[in-house]
Amino acid sequence: MKKVLVISGSPRKGGNSDLLCDEFVRGAREAGNEVEKVSLAEKKVGFCRACYYCRDHSGECAIKDDMGEILNKMLFADVIVLASPVYFYSIDAQMKALIDRTVARWLCHQG
Ligand SMILES: Cc1cc2nc3c(=O)[nH]c(=O)nc-3n(C[C@H](O)[C@H](O)[C@H](O)COP(=O)(O)O)c2cc1C
Repeated sequence: MKKVLVISGSPRKGGNSDLLCDEFVRGAREAGNEVEKVSLAEKKVGFCRACYYCRDHSGECAIKDDMGEILNKMLFADVIVLASPVYFYSIDAQMKALIDRTVARWLCHQG
């Protein structure tokens, strides 16, 4: 049994990638895993400001929004699934903002 965190990056609840997330959640649960889904459409995750506050504050981010709660879930998950629609051959801005904000954790492990 693994702790699985699925992060749905589409702004469209019930859209294509969100539906894929739901199917993944269903399969992972059926296989006996503990699964949680987070929808970025319902969360406020601001852009990283590269202020490096996190580097001097044990990974705590200067921006107080929903990212703290999501990052905590990411840290305690065995498996993290990121789902994004294709926007101009890449991931969408919501998912990129989330990935950038994980720098808070990454930087506090650098020397
Ligand atoms: C800003 C924007 C850029 C897009 N760029 C691409 C693209 O490069 N290639 C593509 O195949 N579809 C592109 N699409 C279409 C979306 O990938 C498609 O509508 C997808 O189903 C959206 O995902 P969702 O249903 O999970 O929200 C784009 C849509 C938007 C709004």
